[in-house]
Amino acid sequence: MRRVAVWLALTMGAAIAQPAIVGHGGPVRAIAADGQHVVSGGFDGTAIVWPEGAVLRSHDGAVNAVALMTDGRVVTGGADGHVIVSRDGRVMRDLCCHSGPVAALAVQGELIASAAWDGTARVWDGSDVAVFQGHDGNVNAVAFAPDGTLITAGYDGTVRTWRDPVRVLRLGVPQNAMVTAPDGEIATAGADGMLRLFAGDAMREVMIDTVPLTALAISPDGAQLAVASLAGTMMVLERVSGRITTVLHGTERPIWALAFAKGEIVSGGAAGVVSRWDAGSGRKLGWTGAAPVMPDVPAADRGAQIFRACQACHTMTADGGNRAGPSLYGLIGRKVGTWPGYRYSEALIQGDMVWTPETIDRLFEIGPAAMLPGTKMPEQRLTDPADRSALVQYLAHIAP
Ligand code: HEC
Repeated sequence: MRRVAVWLALTMGAAIAQPAIVGHGGPVRAIAADGQHVVSGGFDGTAIVWPEGAVLRSHDGAVNAVALMTDGRVVTGGADGHVIVSRDGRVMRDLCCHSGPVAALAVQGELIASAAWDGTARVWDGSDVAVFQGHDGNVNAVAFAPDGTLITAGYDGTVRTWRDPVRVLRLGVPQNAMVTAPDGEIATAGADGMLRLFAGDAMREVMIDTVPLTALAISPDGAQLAVASLAGTMMVLERVSGRITTVLHGTERPIWALAFAKGEIVSGGAAGVVSRWDAGSGRKLGWTGAAPVMPDVPAADRGAQIFRACQACHTMTADGGNRAGPSLYGLIGRKVGTWPGYRYSEALIQGDMVWTPETIDRLFEIGPAAMLPGTKMPEQRLTDPADRSALVQYLAHIAP
C-alpha cells in the first residue's frame, strides 16, 4: 500500500513539474521517430504524429506498431491485422491484411515489413507482397539487414534470417523486439530479461532485468541501444562494448515503446504519455512544441463493460483483497499464480508464464481450461478479437 502511494505521488509530481503531453486515451504501444517527427501508436486505436498532434484513426483496435518512411509517410500496424500507409493525416494505402494482430513493422526505402501473430511476416514492395512462413506461433519482431534481407524473431524463441537457405537461431526463449545495426549486428530483447547481440556466429548477452524485455531501439548511427522492460526499467547501452551508460528513471510500468530522436530517447508505456529523455544524462526532458490533446476513449468503455463480468470474482486494487479469484492489480508483468495471500490451484502455482497483453488475449481466446489445464477459473471465452483487445486495454489502463 505504501509503495502504491509513493508511486502515485511521483507520477503526479512529474505531471505538475513537467506537463507531459497526454494524447492517447490509454497506454502507448509503439513509437517511431526521425529527426523531425515522432509517431506514437496506442491501445486506444489511434496513432498521433508529434509535434503537430495530428491524430490518425484508421485502425479498428490497438495500433501495435508504427514506422516512418524517409519522406514523412507514416506506416501503422494494428490489432485488426491491417498495415496502413498515411501521409498528412490521410490514408494513402491499406495493405490488407494479416489474419492476426500486427506486432511490429520495419521499413527500408520503399520496402515495408510487418510481423504478426498469425505466424507470418510480410514484405510489401509497391503492390507486391511476399509472405514468410516458418515461425511456430506469434512473430513479434521484424527488421531488415543492411543488404535488405528480412530478419524475424518470435514467441517460438527463434531468430530467422530469410536467406536461401533460411538461417534459424534457436534461443529457446520468446523474443519480443529486435533491431539491426548498420554493420549487420542483430540485437534482440528476450522474455528472460536478456539483451542478445549476434554478429555472424558470435553471441553476446547482457542481463537487463528479471522480467521480460518489451522494447528495443537503436540510434541511427548504430552506436547506442535503448532497452526497456515490463517492470519499467529503461537503459541506454553502448552497443560495441555492451556497457550500460545511462539508466532512465521513469515511473511507468511497463514501458512498451522506445525510439531515438536526435540524441534523445522517446518512450511510451502504461501511463499513456509520450516522454522525452536526454540519452546522455538520462534526464527527463518532458515534451515541448505542442499543446496537450485529449482524445475521447471509446474503446475503454467497451473494456469496462466486459470487465463487469470479471468483477464478481476479481478486484483491481492493491488492497481490494481477493474474491473467488485473486486481485488483478498490476496484472501486466505479473508472473502467473503469484498474487500474495491468494490460494491458487496447483496449475497456476506451477505455471511460469507472465501476464502480458498477448497472454491475456490468449487466455480468453482459447479459454482458461486450454491455456492453464487444471485451473479453477471457470471456463469463459471472448470470441471477438476486438472485445479481447478492449479488455486488455482496460486492464492495462485501470491497474498498470
Ligand atoms: C466466477 C469467478 C471468476 C470470473 C467470473 C473470472 N475469474 Fe479470473 N480467476 C478466477 C479464479 C478462481 C482464478 C484462480 C485460478 C486458479 O488458481 O486456478 C482466476 C484467475 C485469473 C487470472 C490469473 C491471475 C494470476 O494471478 O495469475 C486472470 C488473469 C484472470 N483470472 C482474469 C479474469 C478476467 C479478465 C475475467 C473476466 C473476463 C475473469 N478472470 C473472470 C475466477 C474468476
